[in-house]
Amino acid sequence: MSKTDYDLVLAQAEAITSGEPDLIANLSNISALVYDHLADVNWVGFYLTRAPETLVLGPFQGKVACLRIAFGQGVCGAAAATRTTQLVHDVHEFSGHIACDSASNAEVVVPLIVEQRVVGVFDLDSPTVSRFTQHDADGLSKLGRFIESLNWSQLLEAENV
Ligand code: SME
Repeated sequence: MSKTDYDLVLAQAEAITSGEPDLIANLSNISALVYDHLADVNWVGFYLTRAPETLVLGPFQGKVACLRIAFGQGVCGAAAATRTTQLVHDVHEFSGHIACDSASNAEVVVPLIVEQRVVGVFDLDSPTVSRFTQHDADGLSKLGRFIESLNWSQLLEAENV
């Protein structure tokens, strides 16, 4: 499988969000863009911090998923609690992994931090063990930095994040 060109994905993410202030609309299209662009993924989307220390399901592409994940729980919760990107080659070896779709075997989760607050996470799953490499984790983290630059004001004002 060829390496994903994350500079291209980033340029496309910038293009499709340009001029649109609505966060949910932008996150929806970014999940569709990444799901379309990356080979061998079965879930791409967001969990948003919409209750204290709690991630709630946000815009995504893929099968029905878990609704709420506490900080510290599973791979997503680990990303939120540690504020570091999680690159997991085999989720079955990750203590506390939450199996939303039994087809998922590998995962990358990027924490999203705005004004020092963890506003959510960007989660990608693959059915293939070791599908994601450091190249993917780095590229997706860079995309995460762009996602952090979107308009989070409504969520920050409305929620007890
Ligand atoms: N597997 C994740 C839960 C979210 S789903 O993959 C969409 C986890 O352990 O955090």
